[in-house]
Amino acid sequence: MSIDCRAQFPQGEAADAWRLSALNPMAAGLKGSSILAIAASIKGMQAEGHPVCNLTIGDFDPGQFPIPASLQADIGVALAEGHTNYPPAVGTPELRKAVVALYERELGLSYGIDSVIVGSGARPPIYSTFALVVKPGDRVLYCAPSWNNHFYLHINHAEPVAVHCGPETNFLPTAAMLEGRLDGVSLICLNSPLNPTGTMFSDEQLGGICDLVLATNRRRETAGERPVFVMYDQVYWMLTFGGARHVTPVGLRPEMAKYTFFVDAISKSFAATGLRVGWAVIPEPLELPFKALIGHIGAWAPRPEQIATAKLLDDPATIATYHATMKQGIEDRLNALHHGLQGMKAAGLPTDSIAPQGAIYLTGRFDIAGERWNGTVIQTDEDVRRFLLDEAGFGIVPLAVFGPEDVVGWVRLSVGAVSMEDIHQGLARIERALRRLE
Ligand SMILES: Cc1ncc(COP(=O)(O)O)c(C=O)c1O
Repeated sequence: MSIDCRAQFPQGEAADAWRLSALNPMAAGLKGSSILAIAASIKGMQAEGHPVCNLTIGDFDPGQFPIPASLQADIGVALAEGHTNYPPAVGTPELRKAVVALYERELGLSYGIDSVIVGSGARPPIYSTFALVVKPGDRVLYCAPSWNNHFYLHINHAEPVAVHCGPETNFLPTAAMLEGRLDGVSLICLNSPLNPTGTMFSDEQLGGICDLVLATNRRRETAGERPVFVMYDQVYWMLTFGGARHVTPVGLRPEMAKYTFFVDAISKSFAATGLRVGWAVIPEPLELPFKALIGHIGAWAPRPEQIATAKLLDDPATIATYHATMKQGIEDRLNALHHGLQGMKAAGLPTDSIAPQGAIYLTGRFDIAGERWNGTVIQTDEDVRRFLLDEAGFGIVPLAVFGPEDVVGWVRLSVGAVSMEDIHQGLARIERALRRLE
């Protein structure tokens, strides 16, 4: 007979109360992703047979966007060859060298191998950057909208300095918006191309921020204070469209190398979110604690994946062939949505969108607050989301989920898991639904 362990646990409300009182308050206050909750409600609709154009999840459907065939084959080979033991804590030398070569070749940045720390996707490098830089009570500056920074702040007991960015600056900050807000800030979180908007920094915009950081750090170092670091999350940097050019802090201002933690991964650039291979590129003198942290968490990327990723990153011809198809597929979908929303706008419907620049996201707008639907007035982001989903089978994530205020009707449209047909049918349903509004 086995012991019934579940009988030992508090149930229902008592379970909630126990969780709140027994745990570290930080852990008790942790929240899950609201995007996943939205996606779950869509799965329910699909299961009931309703057609849904699901633009909610920042992931890929492997049926639409498979990983590179050589990557898949090389993982199989490495596994068959018996590469099943621990990888080195910082990543295999082959993969670290391949990242160094990739950055040299594509970004014009020359780092040594000791600057590259491999992790299981981009998240452990993000977590480690926070843990290394941020003392409890430090202030951390991030932009609203942006992806998940508020969770990492919470875990690290940091104080938020949220900079609200709107369409007039491409939903990204400028130096003027950060000026005067860096007191007590130890980390600035930047991301380009940006999740959720798909917009990107220009040279001037990012260069101005770098100048502010460098001037701040000159002052701080003279005063014997800790510098402010920049975490530059560039997981979407290979996915740029329509002539948009990816820029980096170090590429624009070489002195930024001392203060920049790059965060990167194959997750998005190669539609490989489930393989869990990412890396940080950091100031070399910080390798030791970063390596120790990743090692203690055990957040290594699996060894077969590391071996195969090193081969892929070292093979520019294969990457170019893969991206010729994959990036075209993403661009076609983003353009179809953009042109669809612009076409409706031209026809007098309350839609808008920002031209695609990068990542797998389009920023759309449904300016329908104040309209009547089902006898009630649409007021909130949740009302807009429900209208689009229930009336048009169009699954979106409100931009407000990513932190900004005053953006009712602005939405993130993510194209990695939909076909062109899904998009065309979804747009037709949207047009019909908008015309039905009272
Ligand atoms: C901007 C950004 N950074 C990091 C990540 C996480 O990447 P990974 O799946 O490699 O941990 C995501 C995932 O959506 C993202 O959008």
